[in-house]
Amino acid sequence: MKGVILAGGLGTRLNPLTKVTNKHLLPVYNQPMIYYPIQTLINAGIDDIMIVTGGNSAGDFLKLLGNGKDFGLKHLNYTYQEGEGGIADALSLVEHFADKESICVILGDNIIEGNIKLAAKTYLNQGTGAKILLKEVSDPQRFGVPELDGKKVLRIEEKPEKPKSQFAVIGIYFYDNNVFDVIRTLKPSERGELEITDVNNHYIKKKEMTWDELTGWWTDAGTFGSLHTATNLVAKTGANNIELNQNA
Ligand code: G1P
Repeated sequence: MKGVILAGGLGTRLNPLTKVTNKHLLPVYNQPMIYYPIQTLINAGIDDIMIVTGGNSAGDFLKLLGNGKDFGLKHLNYTYQEGEGGIADALSLVEHFADKESICVILGDNIIEGNIKLAAKTYLNQGTGAKILLKEVSDPQRFGVPELDGKKVLRIEEKPEKPKSQFAVIGIYFYDNNVFDVIRTLKPSERGELEITDVNNHYIKKKEMTWDELTGWWTDAGTFGSLHTATNLVAKTGANNIELNQNA
């Protein structure tokens, strides 16, 4: 399985911090934000990784990460997203890199306390379709929110006013190679972007979606509030603890 980190966008919710640099290069406690998703993939045994960047300071990713030597990698792949087409648009750029393999996609501002080893293993056993990871949160309105019927996910709503559950769909997704055909069928949402939630709803409709609940804390870091939360959580417990038990 290959790994994809989506680190584009203009990070407008963090203006003026993102006026001259990319959101994913900002510090979260003692490391640049992008370090955390890279470590998440590596801890899951995924070391063939592509970073999709965009917006400001794209060249600084190369300066910071090079070929990934600091992470024990021999090589890192990069590509550039023009404009603000959304998460699914960014994902469409990695079709050539995926080369028919399944992929684990992680949003560059998603940080976890534990690991996704078990989820990656169960997805590989699943073989086809998709898998999402859920986490109970106090403010589901900020995220993609699933409507659940036991172990079945019926539908995901993006930032609903009246959430159908207390779960957020976190920004770590597993897809088979059909994901690129799915993206080609998408139409831009009201905010003018190709939404990852529409990709996920497509797999749900085809009854090809599974989900696991993540163990340990999870946060995004794309707003002042969540960036502050992320820094505090990392300072307190550290992130990417490979030993943390996962009952996913
Ligand atoms: C995105 C997704 C949303 C998901 C979230 C996780 O939201 O659209 O479904 O729950 O990432 O971080 P955004 O950060 O673009 O608002």
